[in-house]
Amino acid sequence: MKPTTITKCLAGALALGAAFASASTLASPEEDREAFVKYYAAKLPNVKFEDYVYGALALDAGSKAQYDAIMEFPPFDSQVEAGRKMWETPLKSGKKYADCLPNGGKNIAGNYPMFDEAKGKVVTLHDAINDCRIANGEEAYKLNDMKNLGTLTAYMRTLSDGMRMNIKVDGPKALEAFNDGKKTFFSRKGQLNFACASCHVQNGGNYLRSELISPALGHAVHWPVFRGGDTLVTLQQRYTGCFSQVRAVPPPQGSTTMNNLEYFHSYISNGLPLKASVFRK
Ligand code: HEC
Repeated sequence: MKPTTITKCLAGALALGAAFASASTLASPEEDREAFVKYYAAKLPNVKFEDYVYGALALDAGSKAQYDAIMEFPPFDSQVEAGRKMWETPLKSGKKYADCLPNGGKNIAGNYPMFDEAKGKVVTLHDAINDCRIANGEEAYKLNDMKNLGTLTAYMRTLSDGMRMNIKVDGPKALEAFNDGKKTFFSRKGQLNFACASCHVQNGGNYLRSELISPALGHAVHWPVFRGGDTLVTLQQRYTGCFSQVRAVPPPQGSTTMNNLEYFHSYISNGLPLKASVFRK
């Protein structure tokens, strides 16, 4: 079979998913990331690389101005502040989160998700926080526990604001996980038969009904978001919403499928600056 690359796939020269017909034809993660950057540079020439962090707002000056005004005095400040208190409260062992996460928990969010060789799987920042809890005598939080895990990470991730996304794919097992996430991203699903890529690659920058669709590049750097100004939504919850939009059954949050999707999806934003806890409509 002729080697196919993601570039061709992104350019729409091939049906989505054709690039995955044979494992031997897969491009490297870095080639994939570069293909995304190039694709958007050609498709959306007026959007600067750094502005992809704003999602659909980068394509609509009016909404971006509104966003800037909201971000001056964010209505969710008190929730982030509650997260700071949780962060600073000692765990049952007497230690704090800062004692059991790398680098005191600062400037690390951009390293996650990461492939953990010992566990043989992708771990998210939420997993790292839960591991820290368990090691210090507490129970793990449920991934959909927004009151606790959500609030805590809304603050914790701000400690990495400005860090550049820095996901690594080293070794064959990590590459397998990356390629699995890539496959999910490009696979059509649901009654509507859409892939993530159908909307966020081919239609990134276009209107779908009344909604301006964000490019996948930059998608992973600003989580959690506060939708409508007060409803905290994590990245995997957003995936769940998007799966449901095409009437597909979403994989459970924290499943291998979701974590591998987050791994691939985060890698393509490598080099972009993080900014946690932002407004989205
Ligand atoms: C039918 C089209 C459609 C499909 C398919 C789809 N999405 Fe979305 N997605 C949207 C719309 C509409 C929004 C809200 C507007 C925006 O920010 O793009 C959105 C928002 C998002 C956001 C939030 C962007 C931000 O900056 O707040 C992420 C992340 C996302 N989608 C990821 C995915 C992933 C991963 C998949 C595949 C599992 C997927 N989407 C499938 C339409 C889609």
